[in-house]
Amino acid sequence: MKILITGGAGFIGSHVVRLFVTKYPNYHIYNLDALTYAGNLENISDIENAPNYTFIKGDITDADFMDTIFMEHQFEGVIHLAAESHVDRSITDPLAFVKTNVIGTMNLLNSSKKIWKNDFENKRFYHISTDEVYGSLSEEGFFVETTPYSPNSPYSASKASSDHFVRAYGETYGLPFVISNCSNNYGPYHFPEKLIPLFINNIINNKPLPVYGDGNYTRDWLFVKDHAVAIDLVFHDGKDKETYNIGGFNEWKNIDLVKVLCKLMDAKLGRTEGESERLITYVKDRPGHDKRYAIDATKINKELNWKPSVTFEQGLVQTIDWYLENEVWLKNVTSGQYMDYYREYYESDESGKNEVDILYKDESYQIIGACMKVHNNLGSGFLEAVYEEALEKEFINQNIPFKKQVTLDLYYEEEKMKKKYRADFICYDKIIVEVKATGQVPEIFYNQVKNYLKATELELGLLINFGANLLTFKRVLNTKYRK
Ligand code: NAD
Ligand code: DAU
Repeated sequence: MKILITGGAGFIGSHVVRLFVTKYPNYHIYNLDALTYAGNLENISDIENAPNYTFIKGDITDADFMDTIFMEHQFEGVIHLAAESHVDRSITDPLAFVKTNVIGTMNLLNSSKKIWKNDFENKRFYHISTDEVYGSLSEEGFFVETTPYSPNSPYSASKASSDHFVRAYGETYGLPFVISNCSNNYGPYHFPEKLIPLFINNIINNKPLPVYGDGNYTRDWLFVKDHAVAIDLVFHDGKDKETYNIGGFNEWKNIDLVKVLCKLMDAKLGRTEGESERLITYVKDRPGHDKRYAIDATKINKELNWKPSVTFEQGLVQTIDWYLENEVWLKNVTSGQYMDYYREYYESDESGKNEVDILYKDESYQIIGACMKVHNNLGSGFLEAVYEEALEKEFINQNIPFKKQVTLDLYYEEEKMKKKYRADFICYDKIIVEVKATGQVPEIFYNQVKNYLKATELELGLLINFGANLLTFKRVLNTKYRK
């Protein structure tokens, strides 16, 4: 059998290609991929010389080229994975998603229809889709195959649209098709723009872990090799014109998953527990962020006897080990173009991801909370030293890491200045807390904190004023850290 697999140099596609090439020596597998930023031949270098494998570099948006290769090779089956797959990119460039995911899919349908004419015996068009087409769930319930489509992002709208076209070609022209809608995959070869590999890479490099919003968004995670096995089953044994939902029955709130990941990484990297968790940084939310995805995979389990083969912990450990053992792969994919994307998306001022209200939200709220408690207990009208002493006790009570009365060197354009700076408190090794007990804090104090911050490596300043019955505070971010 001659099978065309599209997107086989990408994350999931590479696992599917590997499975088919090694499991079915009598098939010939053609892997068509445009090698966009997400496609990488290193992902399948282990099978590139297999006699039953051919790589074709090509773009599915090029209708003529699709017709040519379909005519030349007379594929009997198509397993279509090529797509623009990252939700965040679809928010900045929706049209690219329409081109590849909708028009590209249309081109493949048209080319299949042309070569198969009306002889559909032993032919199959298999579209790999996503659970995101169903939209967002509240706390309860699951996506089943009959859940109405309600996509919320340009990415999911493009995938929903391509699903509809596949189904329409089945109904209108009789094209034999099958569709599967899968939940979030993770595992080796996952491009580090997606949550798990991005955070693994950032933990390795001690970079902030940008958690969107409050982190209470839920995803259902499946190990990629289990998805590849499901695709094999659906392709061979799935019923024509049917949809199969594929998922791990493995729901995690992002923040809980990130904490588990940090803990596992600390152990692997020989760090003390809690070290990587300190990198968690709450940032501006994704617009239109779907609250919860959860797949009911009963149908594929009952009809095709499929279920995930590994637990989440086993899969995560395998994934982390793979990234730690494949440093060169990780370095190659995170250089050049990737760095531009990263800077633009996470670090530029326009991204809004560094706003002071969002950065260090947890830590600064905790500190302000401690100040409020002290203010409520003591009231106003005391000397600064009294507030400082009470605050010190409260920091200890609340396990807020701090150093008191710290003398710091100051720098002006790399040059060390004679004057030193004595901060009232430094919390979490990055936040200055300056205590004042005046009626009203003059702007001059605020500017002082701003200048001290600029001249140190510290990241956030909190100027707390225990004045006149009212607790007030000002926050200021070191501009060096806005990058
Ligand atoms: P990916 O971004 O890692 O890989 C996509 C591949 O498609 C890349 O190799 C890329 O070069 C190729 N490609 C992109 N545009 C192309 C074009 N115009 N012509 C030819 N090739 C092109 O994606 P992935 O995560 O492996 O996802 C694969 C498929 O599975 C997608 O259709 C996606 O919607 C779907 N899916 C993904 C997940 C997930 O969690 N990653 C879950 C469910 C469904
Ligand atoms: O559900 C299946 C879908 O899963 C696939 O169809 C998509 O192709 C795939 O990219 C994935 O989409 P998500 O948007 O769910 O995956 P992502 O890894 O981008 O994000 C997972 C969650 O983590 C989501 O709630 C957003 C959040 N997140 C993500 C990134 C990249 C963060 O908090 N911070 C981040 O930096």
